[in-house]
Formats: sequence, C-alpha cells, structure tokens
Amino acid sequence: MSAYLPLASHEDDDAEEINPPFSQSRNEIRRSRNSKLLVASFVVFASILLFTFDVVYINIPHPFAKAYPNSASNALESFMSHLFPIGMPNRTDNWENENSKAMRKLIACMKTNTCGGNQTSIVLMSSFHFSNSIHGHVSGEDIWALSILNALTEMGYTAIFAPDNRELARTYRTYPDLVKVVIAEGDQAMQCFNDPVCIKSPTHPLGIPAWKMLSFHFWRGSANPLGSKWTLSPENYGVIDPHGNSVDNVYLGYSIERACMKIPFVPSGERPKQVYVFAKYSGYFSGNDYAYPNQTFVPPSDEPSLFDLKIVAGLRSATDGEVPEAIHDLGTLNKEAFYEQLGKSRALIGVGRPNLSPSPYDAMCMGVPFINPILVFDSNHPEDRTKWFTQHDGLKYQNPPYVYHVKKGDSEGFWQAVKEAVEHPIERYIVPEMTMDALKMRVAAIVEKDWKSMGAEVLRERQKSGEGEVCPSLYLLFPKMLT
Ligand SMILES: *[C@@H]1O[C@H](CO)[C@@H](O)[C@H](O)[C@H]1NC(C)=O
Ligand SMILES: *[C@@H]1O[C@H](CO)[C@@H](O)[C@H](O)[C@H]1NC(C)=O
Ligand SMILES: *[C@@H]1O[C@H](CO)[C@@H](O)[C@H](O)[C@H]1NC(C)=O
Repeated sequence: MSAYLPLASHEDDDAEEINPPFSQSRNEIRRSRNSKLLVASFVVFASILLFTFDVVYINIPHPFAKAYPNSASNALESFMSHLFPIGMPNRTDNWENENSKAMRKLIACMKTNTCGGNQTSIVLMSSFHFSNSIHGHVSGEDIWALSILNALTEMGYTAIFAPDNRELARTYRTYPDLVKVVIAEGDQAMQCFNDPVCIKSPTHPLGIPAWKMLSFHFWRGSANPLGSKWTLSPENYGVIDPHGNSVDNVYLGYSIERACMKIPFVPSGERPKQVYVFAKYSGYFSGNDYAYPNQTFVPPSDEPSLFDLKIVAGLRSATDGEVPEAIHDLGTLNKEAFYEQLGKSRALIGVGRPNLSPSPYDAMCMGVPFINPILVFDSNHPEDRTKWFTQHDGLKYQNPPYVYHVKKGDSEGFWQAVKEAVEHPIERYIVPEMTMDALKMRVAAIVEKDWKSMGAEVLRERQKSGEGEVCPSLYLLFPKMLT
C-alpha cells in the first residue's frame, strides 16, 4: 500500500498551492505565477531546442550529443524522485517495494521509449501467494506462485502485486490499458465479480473486466465466475483425471528448475544408504490415506540391497500419532536441511499425504526417485491409470527409474520398489512439461490469449441458455449483443 502514499502526499502539495497560507500576499501569488510562467516557457523553449537538436544532430558525434540524454534523464529522475520511492533498495522480499521498483523502471522506459519487449504488458499478481512467495513462504501454492513470477520476469513482463481486492481495484484503475491479465485467488475473483466497486460496469468503467480475471487455484474444479476456462491449475487435471470435473481447467503448471539447479547434485557413489520418508507429521502414519497400514518399515532381512538401509524422516510434530518402528526421526528440518537430507537419499517414500506436493519434483531434480502410493484403483482394471488416485497424481503416468507405484497395503511391492530404487540411481530429472522453458510458453500463452473474445462467447452462451451469471462488465463490453 505504501506504493501509493507518495501520490497522496503529492496531492497534498497541490492543495497547498491552490489555498496559499493567509500570510501570502496577492503580489506574492502573482509573482509566483509569473515565475511559473517563465519556467514553463523556458521548458517549452528548451524542449524545442533539444528536440531540434535530437532530430538534426542525433547521429553526429559531438560533445553535446552526450549531454542531451543526460539532461533528459536528469529531468526524468527529478520528476521520478516524487513518485514510487523505493524504501528498501537492497530488499527483494517486500511486495510494496518491488512494485515501486517495477513502476519506476516502467515509467522511465516509457518516457525514454526504451521499454523491453514485454515490459509495458502488466500482469497483476492478485493472490497473497505471490507476495508471500517473495517473502520466503514455501507452501505448494507459494512455490507455484514464485515460478510464475520468475517466468513472467524472465520474459520481461511487468509483474505488479495486488494481494487483495481493494489493492487490486485501486491498482487496476491507475493503468487499466496496460494490464493484460489479473491472476487472483478463486474466492477473490468471485467476490470481485459481485462487487460493484471492483468489477467493470457501466457505473464503474475503470473496474476490472470479468474476462481479464484468471483464478489461481491449486486444486481440482472451477474457481472462476466464468468457469474452468478461466481457472489456472498447477497440474494437468484434464490428463490426470479425464473423467473428472476439471478437464477444461487451464494447465499452467510450474517449474522447480531454477531453485533446484542451485542445489549441488550428490553423485550416487557419495550417498549414504539412506531413504527419506516424506512425512512432516506423525499423523500421516494413520488414517484413511496412510498407504502402508499393518506394515513394518524394518527392511526384510533376506534382501542384501536393503541390508543396513537407514530410513529417515524430518517430523515437525511427533505428537499426533505413532511413528513406525525403524524410522529415524531427524526432527524439524528447515528448507536447507530438508534439501540436504533429501539430496543424499536414494529414494523419497510417499506415505499417502500430502497430496500433490512439489517436493517429489524437487527430489527427482536432485536425482532421487519417488515412491508414489496408489490409494484408489479400479479393481476390475487395476492398471488403468486414468482411474488411479495416487498421492501425487501429477506423477501417475511416470515410470521407473523415476517414479515407482505401489498399491496401498502391498507390502511386498513396497519393498520391491525400495530395492529397485536403491539399486538404480538416477541423474537429475525434470518432467519435460515442468522445465522453465515449457512453463514460459504456457505463461506467455495465457498472458497473450484473446480472453475478450472468449468472454463474448461465454456471454452469448449464457444469454441463450439463461444459465449462469451474466456480469455487468460483459454487458458493457459487448453492448450490441444485448439487442
Ligand atoms: C545497499 O546496497 C548498496 C550497494 O549494493 C550498498 O552500498 C549499501 O551499503 C547497502 N545498504 C544496506 C543498508 O545494506
Ligand atoms: C516476450 O514474450 C514472448 C512471449 O509472449 C517471448 O517469446 C519473448 O521472448 C519475450 N520477449 C523478451 C524480450 O523477453
Ligand atoms: C490391517 O489390519 C486390520 C486388522 O488387523 C485389518 O482390519 C485391515 O483390513 C488391514 N488392512 C490392510 C490394508 O491390510
């Protein structure tokens, strides 16, 4: 919000000029007006001079040729010094601060006509997960958000944070034409759609057009007033779950490539005989989703590859259930310690929860295969993966040596998978759709897509069928369709 304070204080300055203090005499006012006129005419004169100089001499090497851009940039700098101040130049974890940096760069490049390819295309990051992600939060949504931000900025787009709807509406109306799309939380998009001071309408023309609002939704299902086609998903739900309710969701996906490549790879020869059990809470070792009920984690003694295998976990809380025997608890691990332990393990063992976590992708990128439990399958067609429900459905079509699938309760299959994983080390592996390049292509596609025409189609369908809401902003944008 502080990004907007300078504007407010600027307005205060104007107010003082219009209502001078009583002590100021009329003459003083006139004098000040005259001097302003003088300054103004000088500026006009100077601009004509500089413009002429610019056009006529631009290609001629001359000492002045260097002086001109400097004086222009000095003028810009002095103008900019009143707008979007950067309170903490050395920080990158504060969204207000990042907004100021981006706005300064944008205004400067627009003024000097030097904007990069996509710089004048703004994407409003209107989910708290975006601001949280630069602040260091690491939930699945935060990791997803950070990779979208990285993809946008690597392609030169201007990303501006607006974590709630008030901030969103206020930001949007400042430069509506520059905003290509808004990426919002699902419930936020719903609220904005029904909020007359958020959505665009005949009485709120600078509001956000419904078709520009995309929902940032980690789970299955639609989370946007205009439906699944405006709902962005981290996984390709249409492929994972072709019989489900998310076939029309937009697969945006994410990439852990940049973060993972910064972590050194441990060659298999240097790894201890260790596997990592993926469970933050001891509660994950019970309940309906627990994949290995009635099973011990003590490796079978007749299996040489598993002899002396160390089975570790980093439990944040061991108070909400029993931890199976043979699991060595390393206690609460911070992010670095977790990656260190994971990176020197020979397999990551899923126990049923958490669902769709990014960690198995990190693991494979660090050369650690994942054991993905199958919690539900069709007993008539046990190998039909479209009917599987696994801990990580984003990986259910992957195969060994990267991903091993084990049916819930299949103790023998479990140990077979652990053995195979330990015996077949892998190099770094990033699922092809999850490389940064693949992500950038999808991000570019959603930013550049003709959402407006699609919105018109939805409106037409809804008017014809009488089903679904018809938003005021759609009326405003397509008035002819109302006749
Ligand atoms: C910020 O960074 C600049 C240049 O990188 C450095 O000179 C300055 O000391 C830093 N300030 C703080 C408060 O760290
Ligand atoms: C601008 O975005 C497009 C995708 O929309 C991308 O292909 C291109 O490389 C980007 N331009 C720059 C200068 O990064
Ligand atoms: C685990 O054991 C209980 C009773 O000991 C039994 O009811 C249950 O079916 C078993 N579960 C599996 C998956 O084998």
